[in-house]
Amino acid sequence: MTGPVSALPRHLAVIMDGNGRWAERKGLTRSEGHDAGTRNAKALVTRCRELGIGHLTLYTFSTENWGRPKDEVNFLFDLIVRFLNNELSSLVEQDIRLRVFGAMDQFPFTMRQVLKHVIKKTEKCASMSLNLALNYSGREEILRACRRLMERGVGPKGVTEESFSAELYTVGQPDPDLVIRTSGEVRISNYLLWQSAYAEYYFTDVPWPDFDAAELDKALESYAARQRRYGLTGAQAEEAGN
Ligand code: IPE
Ligand code: IPE
Ligand code: MG
Repeated sequence: MTGPVSALPRHLAVIMDGNGRWAERKGLTRSEGHDAGTRNAKALVTRCRELGIGHLTLYTFSTENWGRPKDEVNFLFDLIVRFLNNELSSLVEQDIRLRVFGAMDQFPFTMRQVLKHVIKKTEKCASMSLNLALNYSGREEILRACRRLMERGVGPKGVTEESFSAELYTVGQPDPDLVIRTSGEVRISNYLLWQSAYAEYYFTDVPWPDFDAAELDKALESYAARQRRYGLTGAQAEEAGN
């Protein structure tokens, strides 16, 4: 079996799920679960950077999450602001570039300001892209790409995989090779629908706050042991080096 280092995903995408249930099981509040989840996200970012994963996308807030109780939504936004303020110098130090996948105009003013500030301050960082899927919906991203092509006057013949991909938030970044979802749910919840056409998936029952470096290693080992055939036979894929 090949180890994770020899077949590391270039782009790892994570659905960080299970903060609420983790907390409830411990008799804590959902907010405390989100706090623990944020601490874990910070550790994961550093670990991925150390491993040499070039692109990390974290599902941080979906468009559907607006439907949660207002207090929870506000708490999540405060957490994101705190995370960004606390982590800015460490992101720069680790040479990590922050990007946001999602429309920022619906966020509170201070949150928008902090996001823009961190995006600007890290725009020259090149060792890893940290993408926060924030106010994100895979379907909306696809519709947005259609609208952008139409606005540019692109005709039917101009609509290709390349021109379409260039209008997505992931422009310039490889498609996710591995998508991890924690906490036992086996669904993709509107995440990176176009980009994950050939992603490998890894589902684990471990809730997000407990998904530590050892759990990440397990996911990476599982990924490294897979053969990605892209429709070919096993023998053909082997010849192609997949
Ligand atoms: C993931 O944990 C964080 C967000 C979706 C913002 P959840 O809050 O969904 O946790 P569960 O699924 O309720 O346990
Ligand atoms: C997906 O988790 C969104 C994020 C992790 C930010 P949810 O907990 O919102 O997804 P569902 O409701 O279980 O599909
Ligand atoms: Mg959930």
